[in-house]
Amino acid sequence: LDWSPSEKDLDQCSMKGKRKADCPNFIRVLQFLNTTHIYTCGTFAFSPRCTYIHSDTLTMSPNTDEGRGRCPYDPYQRSTAVIVDGELYTATVADYRGNRPVISRHLSEGGRVDMKLDDTLGWLEDPTFISSIFIPHEEKIFFFFSEVAREYNFIDKFIVSRVSQICISDVGGQRTLQRRWTTFAKAQLLCQAGSELPYNVVQDIDILPPAEGAPADDTLFYGIFTSQWAVNSGRSAVCSFRLAEIKSVFSGNYKVLNRDTLQWSARIQEKVANPGECGLHNASDNALRFVKENFLAEDSVHPAGKPLTVVSAERTYSRLMVQRVQGANRKFYTVLFLLTEDGYLHKAVLLPLGAHIIEEVQVFELPQPIKSLKLSVPKGMVYIGTSEGVLRVPASNCSFYWTCGQCVLARDPFCGWDPGSRACVEVSGTQSSLAQDVDGGNVEETCNSISFTHRTRFGPNKLPTASCPPGKLVSVSLNEVVRLQCPAASQLSRQLWERPNSRLSSDLYLELGDGSLSFVATPATLGHYLCLSTENGYRQTIAIYQVKQKSSPLTQTPTSRTQLHTRAAPTSHTAASSGPHTSTGSWPETTETKPSLSAMNTQVTPRQPGRNLTLWTKGSGLREFPGEESPLSARCPNYLKELVVVSVLLVLCLSLLIPLTVCVIRQRWQRKTAPQAGTLPRDSNRGTPEEQEALNENEFFSQRTGPPVHGGHSSGLVCNGTLTDSRQHLPNTPI
Ligand SMILES: *[C@@H]1O[C@H](CO)[C@@H](O)[C@H](O)[C@H]1NC(C)=O
Ligand SMILES: *[C@@H]1O[C@H](CO)[C@@H](O)[C@H](O)[C@H]1NC(C)=O
Ligand SMILES: *[C@@H]1O[C@H](CO)[C@@H](O)[C@H](O)[C@H]1NC(C)=O
Repeated sequence: LDWSPSEKDLDQCSMKGKRKADCPNFIRVLQFLNTTHIYTCGTFAFSPRCTYIHSDTLTMSPNTDEGRGRCPYDPYQRSTAVIVDGELYTATVADYRGNRPVISRHLSEGGRVDMKLDDTLGWLEDPTFISSIFIPHEEKIFFFFSEVAREYNFIDKFIVSRVSQICISDVGGQRTLQRRWTTFAKAQLLCQAGSELPYNVVQDIDILPPAEGAPADDTLFYGIFTSQWAVNSGRSAVCSFRLAEIKSVFSGNYKVLNRDTLQWSARIQEKVANPGECGLHNASDNALRFVKENFLAEDSVHPAGKPLTVVSAERTYSRLMVQRVQGANRKFYTVLFLLTEDGYLHKAVLLPLGAHIIEEVQVFELPQPIKSLKLSVPKGMVYIGTSEGVLRVPASNCSFYWTCGQCVLARDPFCGWDPGSRACVEVSGTQSSLAQDVDGGNVEETCNSISFTHRTRFGPNKLPTASCPPGKLVSVSLNEVVRLQCPAASQLSRQLWERPNSRLSSDLYLELGDGSLSFVATPATLGHYLCLSTENGYRQTIAIYQVKQKSSPLTQTPTSRTQLHTRAAPTSHTAASSGPHTSTGSWPETTETKPSLSAMNTQVTPRQPGRNLTLWTKGSGLREFPGEESPLSARCPNYLKELVVVSVLLVLCLSLLIPLTVCVIRQRWQRKTAPQAGTLPRDSNRGTPEEQEALNENEFFSQRTGPPVHGGHSSGLVCNGTLTDSRQHLPNTPI
C-alpha cells in the first residue's frame, strides 16, 4: 500500500530546508482501530497526516486527518501511540520544531471530549517518548519516556526515565482542568545496581503479562536502559518493574514545585486529593488544583528481583521483546529477544543466577538506523523492521543442534532432545520425554540414557578417553618459558588446566587469555598437563601434554656470555614465582627499552596480539624466535626474554611505588584534615601540585601497562581503588 506525499509536498518540504531523505512519509502510528479498520499516521513530508485503512481490502480512505499532536513532524523524533476502544492515545511533539511535547487523546468516542496535557506548568521536560501500554485491569495507560529531571537541578541536564499514567475514563475537570488530564502522574524509573551509576535513559519497554492464574499486579515491564555518562558508554542494561510497585509509588506521596524558585521539595501542606486517582471529573476546584500541582511522585520505582537483569558490556541493546516459554519440565521461563545497535539479535533466558544468552544471530551486516522489533508468539517469529524493509527470524530453530549434548548445552527452553527420533525438536505440550535442562545445562545427567556422540564442534578424534595417556610430547630445557596451547570449544566454554595429583599454583603458572598456559620449566613443573573445556559444568578433555626435559647437555654448559643469562634466569624465575617485588638482585645494564616492552606485553597483557614467546608445533617442539640466529642465543633464548621482563617490571614497580606512596600518605593526611577531599573530581584543579603529579603518574602507568601482574602492585590497587571510588562518587550523589 503506497501512501506517499505528492511532488508538491516534497518540494515544500525541501524548501523548508529539510533533507530530501527525511521528506518521505515515515509511519509512526499503525494500530487496529476496530474489527474492520486500521488507523495510521505518518510524518508526510514534515506535515503529519492520518488516515483509515480497511483491513480486509487494504484500501485507504481518500480523506486524511490532520496529524498534528498524533504524530511527530520529524522522522527522527520518537513518539508512541495506542488505541483503546477506538480512541487514540498518543505521546508526541505537537509542533514543527519539536519542542511542544504532549500526551493526548484523539478520536474520543461517545461524545467524550478529546484530552491533552495541561502545559502551563511544564508537566514534561524535553521528553523522549518510548512506549505506551494499556493495562485493562487498571483501566489505565502507562507511558514510558526519558526527560530532563528538574528535581535534580544541581546537575545540568540530568536525564531520568519515567513511567507516567492516565486513566481512560478521564474527561477533564468542570472548571479547573477543562479538557485536560486530571489523572496524569509521573514517577522515576530507577535502573541501578547498588551505588553504581544508574542506567538512566530508557530505550525500549515491553510488557510481560502475569502467568495464567497469577494476579494482574504481577505484570512485569522489561526495559532496556543506557547511561548518560561516558563511563558506561557502549553498555546497556535490562531492568524489570512490577506493576504492583508502580501502583504503590503512584499511590504514595508527591513532590511539590515552588512556583517562585522553581524548586521541587517534599510536600508539606495537607493532602486534599489523591493524585493519579481515576474519576475526578466532579471533584472540587480545590482538589483539581491540588492534582494539577502534584504530579511527580516522591518515590522512585525500583526494579523487581535483581536490580539489573542483564548488563551488556560489549554491545548496546536498543530494542527488546519478552516472552514466557514453557519448558519440557512444564516450568515457565522468561525469554528476552534483544536487538543490538550493530545488528545482532540475542536470545536470552533468565535464570536465577543470571541471564544466559542462548544464541546470537547477526541480522544486519551494517548498523541500521531506524529499527523496530516485534514478536509474534502464535507464529513463533521475530520481525525486525528498518527503513529498508522487514525481515523475520524464527524465535527458535532446534534443528540447528545436532546432538543431545548441543541441544542440552544450548539451554533453550523452546528445544529438547527427542531420543526416539534422535533430534533436537521444538517443545510442545504433547511430548513428555524430551531431554532438556534449561536451569543446569547438565549434559551428562540429561543425556545419560542416550548413547550420545561427542559434540561435533570439538571435531573428531580430539577426545582422549583414557585418564592419563602419554599425551603430546614436549621437550624443554630447564628454565625455558613453556607455553601450551588449548583451543576453545565454543564461545561460552572456558579452558581449564590440570595436572594429575598436583594443583596449578598461580605463582608458577600463568593462564593466558587465549586459554594457553605459560610457565617456566623446572624439575617441579615437568610432567603431564591436561587442558579441559568446561561449559555449564560439562567437562571435556581437549588436549594432553607431557613436558619432558631435553637430554641435551649443551644447554647446561656455561660460557662467558651465558654467564650473564644464567644469572638472570633465577631472577626471572623469582619473578614468576613470587611477584616482581622480590627480584632485587642482578640487574643487567644491557637492557634495551623497546624490545623489553613488547616482550612484556606478550606476557602480561595476553589479549593483545604479540609475538609468542615459544610456540609449540607438532613433533618438533620449540620454534626459535625470529631474528635470533646466533647459536648462543638460540641455545638459551628465554633468558634474555625473562631478563627483559623482570627489568621492565622492576622499573615500573619502582616508578609506581614512589608516587603511590606519596599518594597514599597524602590521602591519609587529607582524610584527617579534610574529610571531603575524597570527593574531588578527577580533573579538578584544586589538588596540590604533588597530588596532581601523583595522579598524572598513576594515569600514565595505567595507560602504559594495562592490568597488573599476578601478585604484584598491591599498593597500586589500594591507591587506584581510592581514586576510582572518588570518581564514581560524584555523579552518583543525586541518586
Ligand atoms: C470502524 O471504524 C471506521 C472508522 O471510524 C468506521 O467507518 C467503521 O464503521 C467501524 N467499523 C465497525 C465494525 O465499527
Ligand atoms: C458528575 O456528576 C454528574 C451529576 O452528579 C453525573 O451525572 C456525572 O455522571 C458525573 N460525572 C462523572 C464523570 O462522574
Ligand atoms: C534451522 O537451522 C537449520 C540448520 O542450520 C537450517 O538448515 C534451517 O534452514 C533453519 N530453519 C529456519 C526456519 O531458519
